[in-house]
Amino acid sequence: MSLVLIIDDDHQLCTSFSKLLLQEGYSTATAFSGTEGIEQAHIVNPDLIVLDIRLPDMSGIEVFEVLHAHYPKLPVIIITAFGNTETAIGAIQKGAYDFIYKPFDVPEMLQLVEKAIITGRCMSSLVEVNPGPENYSGREALVGSSRQMLEVYKAIGRVSSTNATVLIRGESGTGKELASRAIYNYSDRVDLPFMVVNCVAIPETLLESELFGYEKGTFTGATHRRLGKIEQARGGTVFLDEVGDMPLSIQAKLLRLLQENSIERLGGKEPIDVDVRIIAATNRDLEKAVREGKFREDLYYRLRVVSITMPPLRERKDDINILVTYLLARLTKEMAITSPGITSEAIAKLSRYDWPGNIRELSNTLKKTLIFNRGAPILAEDISFPSIIRPHDATGPAIAKTIQAWIRHVLKSGEHERSYDFCLDHIASVIIQEGLSMTKGNRSQAAKILGISRPTLHAKMEKYGIDQAVEQDD
Ligand SMILES: Nc1ncnc2c1ncn2[C@@H]1O[C@H](COP(=O)(O)OP(=O)(O)OP(=O)(O)O)[C@@H](O)[C@H]1O
Ligand SMILES: [Mg+2]
Repeated sequence: MSLVLIIDDDHQLCTSFSKLLLQEGYSTATAFSGTEGIEQAHIVNPDLIVLDIRLPDMSGIEVFEVLHAHYPKLPVIIITAFGNTETAIGAIQKGAYDFIYKPFDVPEMLQLVEKAIITGRCMSSLVEVNPGPENYSGREALVGSSRQMLEVYKAIGRVSSTNATVLIRGESGTGKELASRAIYNYSDRVDLPFMVVNCVAIPETLLESELFGYEKGTFTGATHRRLGKIEQARGGTVFLDEVGDMPLSIQAKLLRLLQENSIERLGGKEPIDVDVRIIAATNRDLEKAVREGKFREDLYYRLRVVSITMPPLRERKDDINILVTYLLARLTKEMAITSPGITSEAIAKLSRYDWPGNIRELSNTLKKTLIFNRGAPILAEDISFPSIIRPHDATGPAIAKTIQAWIRHVLKSGEHERSYDFCLDHIASVIIQEGLSMTKGNRSQAAKILGISRPTLHAKMEKYGIDQAVEQDD
């Protein structure tokens, strides 16, 4: 569970914001002065700090500087009043994650909190490459010893110490993000920021300002200058996730960045030199996108010079055994339970499946099984594959038939003492997963289309073991 430290002398704000965060599944700590805030940060080891710029004993900026010197990878969101914008921008230039005006808009703040925590985690948690089983517990790692994965490790080793732009390709859930973080971990820029921008979850104009920033007065609402993630990375690395979905107008700007190492803020008059390393990822067929005129050919050639392709799990089934051991170690640590063990028949059943959602799907399946099994060893019959309805199965009445057939199968097999609850839970978990996948993992939108509150959605995701990071929230 992520912990947010709120440093603000406004007791009421601390209390209500803290309550809100608790409802959203975070834990919190509060401090009412700068000195107390710094002390607390050392004690509670937060994942994010939300810091008021005006504090009774010292300025928020001073507090930020102290904290940033100690914990350079800890994200800090500054809360400021309108009059203090310049100071807040100064803090961003020094490495704060972002700022927001008081009184803040709750959904906007929650999105910011979530993004900041993800960014912080990406920067500070090391992704190991091919560690031994003694290092599996709770760590993030790329595991697998198949020939295909050994090629991937070699490629990561070759590119990480260079400044080359890297394109990571592969189907959904194959570990593209993990590979990008491994490259960052082993690069010379490891002490500098790692900024993630998801090109698909954001509308075009927002994506442009997210990447390149804007000048004050460029459009209605641009009340101050805003730095984009590329500038904010301050010489570090920017991970452009789903680059294949980037709109053409922004592709042009990206090409220019890659060729000339400069960007222009929206409404800016001068190009700004930047030194940033770009890692891009996509699950799209870029060649097809080029043929269809959706992806610039020149950018395609520029990006593909150094590329790494993550193999789908069905092509490296030898790795399933080792992946299951790793994932069980990681999941049980996360869930604070002891590993119940798994039979070889269960592993054989996992190896027969084709895993269209790759390792993410394998991980979700194991998590769900651990939850439903409540500590009992995992047998073959405990494993059911996540989506009972695949898009190509059929539509309309055929879907009902598929569900009926599946329910009949469960009832007939007599494998589950609580068959009724088991079927209901499975169907409910498919509905939640579909809601999330329709909205690319945006939980607020998913809750809306499902007609449930965000906390309810969270609770259900937790209950059914649906990966919290299905995709990044926009
Ligand atoms: N080789 C691997 N070893 C261990 N875990 C892995 C491996 N590859 C992926 N995972 C795990 O699978 C999940 C998905 O990985 P990741 O997010 O990197 O995939 P992705 O390719 O970026 O997917 P998408 O295209 O859907 O964004 C994560 O929980 C990650 O830790
Ligand atoms: Mg990804």
